[in-house]
Amino acid sequence: MKSEECLLCHDAACSKACGKLDPARILRSLYFDNEPGAVRQLDEPLACLQCDGRCQSSCPVEVPVRNIVMSLKDRPVDPVPDYDCLRTDFCGFPLINPFLLSSSVVASTYEMCARAFEAGWAGAAFKTVCLMDIREASPRFSAIRGDNGRIIGFKNIEQLSDHTLEENLEIFRRLKKDYPDRLLLVSFMGRNDEEWAFLAEKLSEAGADALEMNFSCPNMTEENTGSDVGQIPQLVERYTRIVREHTKLPIIAKLTPNITDITESAEAAVRGGADGLAAINTIKSLIEVDIDPSDGIFRASIGGYSGKAVKPIALRFIAQLSQDEKLKGQHITAMGGIETWRDALEFIALGADSVQVTTAVMQYGYRIIDDLIDGMAGYMQRHGFKSLSEIADTATPGIVSTEELDRSYVIYPRFLRERCVGCQRCYLSCLDGGHQAISIKEGKPVLDPEKCVGCHLCVLVCPQSAIVSSEVRVAKKK
Ligand SMILES: Cc1cc2nc3c(=O)[nH]c(=O)nc-3n(C[C@H](O)[C@H](O)[C@H](O)COP(=O)(O)O)c2cc1C
Repeated sequence: MKSEECLLCHDAACSKACGKLDPARILRSLYFDNEPGAVRQLDEPLACLQCDGRCQSSCPVEVPVRNIVMSLKDRPVDPVPDYDCLRTDFCGFPLINPFLLSSSVVASTYEMCARAFEAGWAGAAFKTVCLMDIREASPRFSAIRGDNGRIIGFKNIEQLSDHTLEENLEIFRRLKKDYPDRLLLVSFMGRNDEEWAFLAEKLSEAGADALEMNFSCPNMTEENTGSDVGQIPQLVERYTRIVREHTKLPIIAKLTPNITDITESAEAAVRGGADGLAAINTIKSLIEVDIDPSDGIFRASIGGYSGKAVKPIALRFIAQLSQDEKLKGQHITAMGGIETWRDALEFIALGADSVQVTTAVMQYGYRIIDDLIDGMAGYMQRHGFKSLSEIADTATPGIVSTEELDRSYVIYPRFLRERCVGCQRCYLSCLDGGHQAISIKEGKPVLDPEKCVGCHLCVLVCPQSAIVSSEVRVAKKK
């Protein structure tokens, strides 16, 4: 009875069959980690109590929709949050919330941006504008999937906007006229000093609110463009300085993660006159090799990796940026694997001022904004945060490095015997990948505290969530 089994259909049969509630929307809130939001969508008294379950009989994959909705009926109902707590700003431009589309296919036409703004997104970093002749490969995406078919890692070899400059400028004029309160952050890339300067002027004239310099696309075929530039701080500084001389708009440097120390390029951008930093662009990767030997070659292509799987890497880079004293006061707009409000909150807790999303929108659509907004505002209400910056002020000092960790105690796992089904996966993992601290008695695991080092591998591998952390610190024996 898990909401993760829901296919998240567009125009879902369950909601059409119900007619009273919107079960598809309720399951979507659960899927995107927003249970309080799901509970708030139930009516009083619950329509399901008088119904035979038309929602679940209409579901193409027989998700127990009614049972899932009914299981929420006794949960406490949180009040509707005050969404104004999400208001913030982007280098002086007021944002209705911190959620932006990141520069990519999801923000590449007038109609797409308009639909996203109508859905509730506060702004968009438009698909990178350039003066190159862009001819894309087909197909251009591949993915790594989790057990339920969900994409967790996504690879693309897409380059930049394939519209002419004039077409893009017209889009910007229309977007600004029709959506003056939404941030239009225009991403762009030149090949040399003249192109950076020329584009900065043109984009400023067309009404962009801010410019994002793309120093980080890993898929460029021309030398000294994209992530090639982001890896050379001198070039980052030089191009930023040139753009600074040709625009009065805020400048954001979008940095590459294909580098050891991101702060070197970030500091170079600031020396050149940047007002903010965007990270991360996609990570150079190779998802799979075609292992069919019949034409004499194993084919593979290198591209940029994004989505859920890159979040830990992106968080590390954002923490580095926000902890660098020389970067204080810079707007940090963060991205890399954000799907839920909780993901976004982690970036904000580390010091990001706004967050951007691509891969999750490609997979689930603009509608994920509903639970990003509701989930984040609900969290802030529950914990008494009045503004997003209060969250970062609370959390930033809590980041510790490995040298600072207290290593004087062990936290043992706790086995929930009533939930355990006796699969013995914990036993196997501890035997072959741990410290041989688990034995099996009457088909279920038993811990030997003399051998257990408290690594928590068993907690992670248990498919039934039947092993939890005891959370008790036991002093190590000398
Ligand atoms: C298909 C695709 C196209 C992209 N195109 C661009 C681009 O034109 N300019 C850019 O700065 N980043 C581009 N990106 C990178 C994203 O803006 C973002 O930095 C990255 O995907 C990480 O965020 P995510 O995990 O939410 O996708 C692209 C990403 C994808 C998946």
